[in-house]
Amino acid sequence: MRKEDKIRQEIFAKIADLYTLRKQTEEAFIPGVSPVPYAGRVYDEKEMISLVDASLDFWLTTGRYAAQFEKDLAAYIGTKFCLLTNSGSSANLLAVSALTSPKLGEKRLRAGDEVLTTACGFPTTLNPILQNNLVPVFVDVEKETWNIQADLIEDALSEKTKAIIVPHTLGNPADLNTITRIVRKYHLWFIEDNCDALGSTYRKKHTGAFGHISTCSFYPAHHITMGEGGAVLTSDPLLRKIIASYRDWGRDCWCEPGCDNSCKKRFDWKLGELPRGYDHKYIYSHIGYNLKVTDMQAAVGTEQLKKLPEFIQRRKENFNILFQGLKKYEDCLVLPRPTPHSDPSWFGFPILIRDDARFTRNEIVHYLEDHKVATRMLFGGNLTKQPAYADMISRSAGPLVNTDLVMNNLFWIGVYPGLKPEMCAYIVAAFDTFFSHYP
Ligand SMILES: Cc1ncc(COP(=O)(O)O)c(C=O)c1O
Repeated sequence: MRKEDKIRQEIFAKIADLYTLRKQTEEAFIPGVSPVPYAGRVYDEKEMISLVDASLDFWLTTGRYAAQFEKDLAAYIGTKFCLLTNSGSSANLLAVSALTSPKLGEKRLRAGDEVLTTACGFPTTLNPILQNNLVPVFVDVEKETWNIQADLIEDALSEKTKAIIVPHTLGNPADLNTITRIVRKYHLWFIEDNCDALGSTYRKKHTGAFGHISTCSFYPAHHITMGEGGAVLTSDPLLRKIIASYRDWGRDCWCEPGCDNSCKKRFDWKLGELPRGYDHKYIYSHIGYNLKVTDMQAAVGTEQLKKLPEFIQRRKENFNILFQGLKKYEDCLVLPRPTPHSDPSWFGFPILIRDDARFTRNEIVHYLEDHKVATRMLFGGNLTKQPAYADMISRSAGPLVNTDLVMNNLFWIGVYPGLKPEMCAYIVAAFDTFFSHYP
């Protein structure tokens, strides 16, 4: 063994010792005393070793781990390409920005074009539409799945509508049959915000493989984490090239960090009004960003990805415990239902309080929080009512009745793999005591 490898192995053994020590001193779960988080990182010594391995390389920027992760995630989802980026929000920004590229000719999105979406969800699904001077058109969501109401989409289209971007809400796939049919019929672009649905399937195919582009988030609350991180997936080589350009400063060159002359004509290009032979490394074909990820982040992700199938299974099991425990309260609560033909990799467990319930959302949320059960709103509720969007230019395709319901009456609780069965049982017990106060 090389001396350097031997030293690395010694360091890794120490890391494993540290992890074991932490595990041994972990506090046991005490119902009503220990917190029951809605999400969190689940990892072991392998992620810690991988992270240190990458840091010992001291490559720092995107490198071997990122390349490996991109290959593995694309293979898992079933797309040809995957590009890592530093967050799910950056992934959405890249996805929408890519569609404005002049390289797409007549198909490019231009300022003022419309993009269909929902107002029910996370702001950075919507923001890239506005950041690219496009006009969001809001379609209401359906009850129980809280996904875009697909049968309203066709009527919501106008001459100016060129694209659809929608999330798969809390892991439950949108009606991909209807959406992809409309996308084909009207020659629209389709972006799947798959940030909350990694591992979900629709008709046995992974979400994230239906859109022209799809996105992932690896923030700690998500199915797998890198701390901060995201990915953009596509099977279209031109889109891949454009996304990489926007991500990497807008450059025309596609050399990996540390490489030169991949195109074999680095000093032989004639582009724009630049002199022939201007160094391709410094030729820019887009007004881009730098949204790359570091190899330390990717190193954590490669180990997390190996755990994904087990994580998904545990999310499903936790979802089922909650569903079985809470279905007796369906006269007061609207519980989630999987979209037909789908098998969701649940991100969370949404609960809507019916209007005629004997209590309000705030009462039950406060009760749960007081009893250590973490709750979350469905992100921005109705984003059109958030202060940030007061001056936005947009259109709503009809009243956003269910989106308002989400804003007023819905919250969600966790199903993440860090929740042990006894924690899920405690959540159900907390509901039981709450309901005993409101017989
Ligand atoms: C649907 C959706 N899209 C995008 C994002 C943004 O991801 P990130 O936090 O990695 O920027 C989130 C964040 O939770 C999300 O839920």
